[in-house]
Amino acid sequence: MISIVVLISGRGSNLRAILDADLPVRIAAVISNNPAAAGLALARARGVPTEVVDHRAFASRPAFDERLAERVDARRPDLIVLAGFMRILTDAFIARYRGRIINIHPSLLPAFPGLDTHARALAEGVKIHGCTVHFVTPQLDHGPIIIQAAVPVFAADTEQTLAARVLAQEHRAYPAAIRWFAQGKLKVEGQKVLNTDADARFEQALLSPVDAP
Ligand code: GRF
Repeated sequence: MISIVVLISGRGSNLRAILDADLPVRIAAVISNNPAAAGLALARARGVPTEVVDHRAFASRPAFDERLAERVDARRPDLIVLAGFMRILTDAFIARYRGRIINIHPSLLPAFPGLDTHARALAEGVKIHGCTVHFVTPQLDHGPIIIQAAVPVFAADTEQTLAARVLAQEHRAYPAAIRWFAQGKLKVEGQKVLNTDADARFEQALLSPVDAP
């Protein structure tokens, strides 16, 4: 069983999916930069230790990241899981956890890195959208891809309806990625993730509403 620390900033629905997934992991702590994050109450309710490192209390990004790293290290995690963590991390922070920090992003990377992905997808008229779980590297939203889930975009979609359709897939994709990591199935070679789980052949590309082999 590996130990993970989950970093959040808000609602915590991905955290809930991870908690509910019965993964071979121990959640050593949930840490938020935002004291008002709803995910903190969820973690507490499930008996998971929580901490707040409020970025507003720090004069600079490096100072915040140093304290965050100190608090993460205190929990000795094997893996750091960014689940709606809305702060850009310094290169130093990312380098410290190279190969053992992952993120979920609400687009099919490398399309739409950054914010407002659903609005941008609608504005571009794409017909397929989705989410990506990837290893974190210094280039924002660009690390080796572990799993992606695709959803259709409909003419009647609003940012909200599209976000909800993608979010449902996030809740499938993130537990799958964490399970593979915990089982030692993921090998990173350059920009590519090799998955040694034979059953993962199709599961690394989730399609909704129909999962096609
Ligand atoms: C998700 O859409 C995630 O992809 C993005 O932020 C959102 C977090 O949602 N990075 P939640 O806090 O997990 O509900």
